[in-house]
Order: sequence, then C-alpha cells, then structure tokens
Amino acid sequence: MSQTSLSKVEPTNVTFLTSSKTAIEKNLVIALESVFVIDDGETMLVQALRVAPQERGKGVVGVLQRFCSDLVKSKFPDVKVTRLARDLLGPKDFQKYRLITKQGILLVRFRAEELKLRLSDLGLGDIQSSLSTSFKPPPVRLDNTAIRQLYLTSDRMHGVLPNATIIQDSQPFKLLPSNMAILLKKDIDWMVDDVANPTVASLCTFPYRVPIGDDWYSLNINMFGKELDHVQQQFLCHLQRHTATLKGDVMCQMYLEPPLWKPMMEFCRNILNVELVKEYTKQCVVESDVI
Ligand SMILES: CC(C)(COP(=O)(O)OP(=O)(O)OC[C@H]1O[C@@H](n2cnc3c(N)ncnc32)[C@H](O)[C@@H]1OP(=O)(O)O)[C@@H](O)C(=O)NCCC(=O)NCCS
Repeated sequence: MSQTSLSKVEPTNVTFLTSSKTAIEKNLVIALESVFVIDDGETMLVQALRVAPQERGKGVVGVLQRFCSDLVKSKFPDVKVTRLARDLLGPKDFQKYRLITKQGILLVRFRAEELKLRLSDLGLGDIQSSLSTSFKPPPVRLDNTAIRQLYLTSDRMHGVLPNATIIQDSQPFKLLPSNMAILLKKDIDWMVDDVANPTVASLCTFPYRVPIGDDWYSLNINMFGKELDHVQQQFLCHLQRHTATLKGDVMCQMYLEPPLWKPMMEFCRNILNVELVKEYTKQCVVESDVI
C-alpha cells in the first residue's frame, strides 16, 4: 500500500464513547485501535493498536490515529490529552510524549491445580514468614467503600501510585470519581498492605479465558510500591485466592516497578516453581497533548 492510498483507507466499526476503529483496505482488515474517553472527558485513552504485519512501517498508524483523534474531538471537545502505553521508545519519542511511569512486565505461566498444590505444600504462612524476619500483618482486601475512601478521599495513595495515577493493565486513570466508577465495574481484587499507611497496593483481575487453547486463562496484576516483601505477600494472596477453584493453564502478567522484576522473577522460578514466559520487558505509559 502506498502512502497516498492511505488517505482512502476507510475507517469502520465506530461506536460511541469507546471508538473501536478498524482500517479496511480491499475488504481486508489491516489495522485497529480502541479509544476510551476518561478523566472527566479530558483524556483520550488509546489502546489495542494493531497493524497487520505486512502493512507495518507504511504510515497506517498515523492515519488511524488522526482519524480517531478527529472523531473523539468532534464528540468530546473537552479532550485535551492522549494517553497510551508504548514498549520501545527512542529519544525522538520523548520529544512527543511526557512520561507518566515505566512498568516492568513479568510474564509467567502455570497450571492452576499445580500451583495450588505448591502453595499448600509450602504453606502460605511459611512462605510469608520466610519473606522477612519482621512481623507483617496480612494484606487487606478492599471493598468498594474502602477503595473509594482510600483512593479518593485521602491522599494516602499519592506516595504509592506513580504520578497519583491508577494503572490498570496498561490503562492510566487519574484519581477521579468518574474513573473509579469505570474501574469498579471491572472484576478486580484490590489489595493494600496497610490501609492507614499504605506502601504497596495491587489490583488483580479475576482469571478470564484467553484463546490460547482449551481452559487457558489470563490473570493480570498491577503492583504499586517498592517493598519487595509486601509485593510478594500480595502476589501470593492473589494467587491463593484465584487458584482455589480454577482448573487449567494460566498466563499471569504482573506490572511492577522495574527494579522489582528480577527478585520477583527469581521468587516465581525458585520458590513457586512457575515457568518464566518472557525475559524482562518494560512499558512506558505516556501522554501528549491533543492537537
Ligand atoms: C506497534 C504497531 C502498531 C506499529 O505499527 P507500524 O505501522 O509498524 O508503525 P511504525 O513503526 O511505522 O510507526 C509509525 C508511527 O506510529 C508510532 N507508533 C508506533 N507504535 C505505537 C503505539 N503503540 N502507539 C502509538 N503510536 C505508535 C511511531 O512512533 C511512529 O510515529 P512517528 O511517525 O511520529 O515516528 C505494529 O508494529 C503492531 O501492530 N505491533 C503488534 C501489536 C503491538 O505491539 N501494539 C502496540 C501496543 S498495544
């Protein structure tokens, strides 16, 4: 496809609020992108950008993004900022984007039944006591009221979250009631080490099926904070809860502070005996002004 024919690529499948746009050429889908409007209507969140392998490097991304941006601006004139996640960024990209945060990505896989046995063989209490010599109370699971209180009506999470932003998977949300309403509709376990004085907080999706094969699930965890012991403890609590009844294979993806990637990878491999799927990768969550 030449550069000039790109302007003729037809966008399709546009829906309200979340615009899922597919670029179609000669009746073939060659690219797609989803856009959400968040942050009280001020931010356009871009995700799931995909270009077919044979069409990459030809400028499709630019056409798709211009279209989505114009569409969103026409419906949501208050949108001022675009936010998105990028894996590889060069110096040129940093002229274009402001960095919100960098997340390390740890991807491991396991059979739920085997990990459940492993956790019970080790004894969760034993694992927890081996994490540190100092006494640590167990993490606290938060209900919706506690989540709102902690995240919205106090500034206790400001020191834990990057740039006072909740990142769920790769999606950054400002601490606003409208964003909380979106997040609380999702099946997520919210945990914190200490409600009065939090240092580590986590969000874990409930396992959801993925089309890798029969009975494959994905479990995504966002960890905020730098205290390794607390991160391990919360990870174990999430795993214990979600492997209790699950049967099948699990791809577990954890987003965490980059310096915690290596010790958590070793913990997963050496203590939990789970398989590392990918070496270290990181993701930059960034924003730029909508022009
Ligand atoms: C990432 C991907 C969409 C890029 O498509 P491409 O046609 O090869 O794009 P190019 O490398 O030619 O880059 C074109 C422009 O898009 C930008 N771009 C690349 N990836 C981007 C992303 N994920 N989000 C926003 N912009 C992106 C580039 O910075 C470049 O900008 P510039 O012209 O101002 O320099 C494509 O490689 C792909 O589908 N990969 C697999 C899926 C994936 O990793 N998606 C990204 C995260 S969900």
